Amino acid sequence: MMSEVPSSIDPGAVPRVRPPDTVLNGVGIWRGWLDPQAQATLVECLRGLVRAAPLVTPVTPGGRPMSVRMTAAGKFGWVSGPKGYGYATQHPSGVPWPPIPASVMAVWESLSGCPRALECMLLNWYAEGARMGLHQDRDEADLSCPVVSISLGDSALFRVGGTERRGSTASLWLESGDVAVMGGASRLAYHGIDRVRHGSSRLLPGGGRINLTLRVVT
Ligand code: SIN
Ligand code: FE2
Repeated sequence: MMSEVPSSIDPGAVPRVRPPDTVLNGVGIWRGWLDPQAQATLVECLRGLVRAAPLVTPVTPGGRPMSVRMTAAGKFGWVSGPKGYGYATQHPSGVPWPPIPASVMAVWESLSGCPRALECMLLNWYAEGARMGLHQDRDEADLSCPVVSISLGDSALFRVGGTERRGSTASLWLESGDVAVMGGASRLAYHGIDRVRHGSSRLLPGGGRINLTLRVVT
């Protein structure tokens, strides 16, 4: 339902540097937005981040461990455990979330089209065999701000539908360096990662995929 998507911020309020290369069910995709050098530099920075705020296996409210492992940076991270899930200002260990890397801030500023400052960067780690089921991102207060997603490492089959779980979907492979923006009518689109082609990228020795999602939470 398009009417579910608020539009207090004009999605074109901040002009984007260039139009997307592809649009998949309303999700804009910028191919190779980060070049291989920028990807490698960012991965080094993320290694430090993961040392400060280690990866955690989230448990769904139903009690099942997810196959991705997660951490975060910025004012808010996302935690999930037996007591429920949602945004939190601290890592489960009690340490504050590390700062968001400057190059990630720059992606938000170039491609979000959103005048609000970035508050949260979630890091999803897909080891071999990890996937993410179809879901909506709807725990953020201001749905006029998009979710911006950065792919690093192995290629991932990204599926996007509409705002109804049972609607038709379309898929494409996200490659290392690609950026996807779920905003406007696609902000509440169901989406997920069906599978990752293990070892398809040489960015991470040993393979695997990192996904960074950038959000305004409040
Ligand atoms: C997510 O929807 O949270 C992750 C999407 C991705 O891994 O590309
Ligand atoms: Fe998501």
